[in-house]
Amino acid sequence: MPAAARAEPSTMIAAPATLGLLGGGQLGRFFVQAAHELGYSVWVLDPDPASPAGRIADRHLVAAYDDRVALDALATGCAAVTTEFENVPAPSLEYLARSVRVRPSAAAVAVCQDRIAEKTFLRDQHLPHGTFAVIRSEQDLATAPPNVFPGILKVARFGYDGKGQARIATRDDALAAWHKLGREACVLEALLPLDCEVSVVLARDAAGGAACFPVAENSHRHGILDVSIVPARISATLAESARQCALRIAAALDYVGTLGVEFFVSRGALYVNEMAPRPHNSGHYTLDACATSQYEQQVRALCGVPLGNPAQTSPAVMVNLLGELWSAGEPQWSNLLARPGLKLHLYGKHEARPGRKMGHFTVLGPDLAQVIESAMAARAAIGIRD
Ligand SMILES: Nc1ncnc2c1ncn2[C@@H]1O[C@H](COP(=O)(O)OP(=O)(O)O)[C@@H](O)[C@H]1O
Ligand SMILES: [Mg+2]
Repeated sequence: MPAAARAEPSTMIAAPATLGLLGGGQLGRFFVQAAHELGYSVWVLDPDPASPAGRIADRHLVAAYDDRVALDALATGCAAVTTEFENVPAPSLEYLARSVRVRPSAAAVAVCQDRIAEKTFLRDQHLPHGTFAVIRSEQDLATAPPNVFPGILKVARFGYDGKGQARIATRDDALAAWHKLGREACVLEALLPLDCEVSVVLARDAAGGAACFPVAENSHRHGILDVSIVPARISATLAESARQCALRIAAALDYVGTLGVEFFVSRGALYVNEMAPRPHNSGHYTLDACATSQYEQQVRALCGVPLGNPAQTSPAVMVNLLGELWSAGEPQWSNLLARPGLKLHLYGKHEARPGRKMGHFTVLGPDLAQVIESAMAARAAIGIRD
């Protein structure tokens, strides 16, 4: 265990310090790029030797997230550590926090990585959320209140992109689905009729100052984010309540860093769906359409330097590029690159599995309706089918 803490919670970590990152996915890759832009070095811990962030990091520690030798190396070599991945074990963050600055805290990450803790937190904080029941046994299913049917059974831990979930109509369905999900601890949520889904990304600093990005309107295909439209086409009042809700969540978690909050809009009302203790896929648009990106904010919050301006400089539509697009080889990028106002981002992943996030593009322009139209035309031109 390294002996001394390198930085007090309030001190500013100035470039050219070295920052540590747990997780090496695309969210981490953009963090590394933002940190490099501000003059920092980054060490990435990720067990995958080909991880997108690891490949551009100053040092890539290829080891498990609970590998004490690798964690000690991070704690010794880095001035502060953050994460891009909510399933990083909370004990690893706690271990690191004994000797190095860790933001967001293990406690905040722990709430976001377990649906039972998350829903309980929302209930305790009187934040708007859908009806749910905690399922740990057949008995819990037998006594779940009738208003959670029809519903969605979700494993409490390690679910993502619609994985570890089953839609169920009846109590009998739920029982069968629970066995299929491996009898793990779950939440059973009432199925809400959705008007739309929106998200808020914000950054919060250690003194409690926060900067909220505009609200994104998200549509999903097969449980995976497909398109984000920003600003969301919802009323100004609803958008403001979503931002206020996200700020309340961040304050209640004493959150430091970039936080993503997903919401359902159902019959005109807002419900928190889930939180991500990291930058969010729906915040990719901030790279091209905001004065400061969500990744730069993560660097700033981690280092205790002033947060940047989150203002949106242009309407934007982001489209995810998933692995199935590669089924007939590398897509024809000239179909996208020829389009004015389109920014393409590829993550350098070599293996294109169906559903794997390989890249995204963002279309910018002065008029949102036209930006939506050209993003949808680009999406069709590259071969994404509805
Ligand atoms: N209670 C619900 N009512 C209606 N739709 C839901 C509900 N829960 C999830 N969904 C749909 O499934 C998607 C994925 O669920 P989510 O809980 O966000 O899991 P993930 O961690 O996979 O993103 C949501 O974005 C939404 O489209
Ligand atoms: Mg989600």
